Amino acid sequence: MRSPLVIGNWKLNGSKQLVAALLGELQRSLVPYHHQCDVAVAPPCLYLDQAAALLGQEGLIALAAQNVDNHAQGAFTGEISASMLQEFQVTYVIIGHSERRAYHQESNALIAEKFACVKRAGLTPVLCIGETAAQRTEGATQAVCTAQLDAILQQSGISAFQGCVIAYEPLWAIGSGQSATPEQAQAVHQFIRESIAQQDANIAASVRLLYGGSVTAHNAQALYAMPDIDGLLVGGAALQADTFSSIVKQTVS
Ligand code: 13P
Repeated sequence: MRSPLVIGNWKLNGSKQLVAALLGELQRSLVPYHHQCDVAVAPPCLYLDQAAALLGQEGLIALAAQNVDNHAQGAFTGEISASMLQEFQVTYVIIGHSERRAYHQESNALIAEKFACVKRAGLTPVLCIGETAAQRTEGATQAVCTAQLDAILQQSGISAFQGCVIAYEPLWAIGSGQSATPEQAQAVHQFIRESIAQQDANIAASVRLLYGGSVTAHNAQALYAMPDIDGLLVGGAALQADTFSSIVKQTVS
């Protein structure tokens, strides 16, 4: 049985004040859903320490990082390693987000190296994959997702997917207000699970597949109702406590 997982990706948003206010409100509003849904927030990494101190050891809300370097240590100015994230109570690490692929030229091969680093540090990768609008129009959605998954398989093998999280985030749905329909998302999620099942049915059955892209309090329930959607990766709607709480609530009711 795959337990639901909702992650709020704050992207390049936040301040000390927002971290304190948002986490304070979420800690209050999410209490009823504790043990029913895994919840994580991904603030900019500079705020992870503050967030970890606020969240304490209660385990109500886990921490996710938005990125990690593909090296363990060394002369890589400006970077942050997986073992550093681990020191700050981080559980999940988002890698391969389309904004990093687009604005930081991250390739499938680089993301595969990051995936391996995250696993080595004992953290859980949240691998983002998905197609552009043009690729969807060309009918290339499956080919794009396959290439993005294959890079990980080649680097780390199928066993690396054990316990990991994959987020399907079609680029045309991110920040556009135009979410994939539940049926569109389900079709790709089913394809992803079946692709993994071809190599290992047990891992395919256990891997959690999140949908991301214009998730709101209005569409979360219908998306989560799909059999292969195990949770949601939320962007803009994660910045408001009541909206994010409402999204979490919809994965447990
Ligand atoms: P939005 O929910 O703002 O569309 O962002 C989705 C996303 O990119 C989450 O990682």
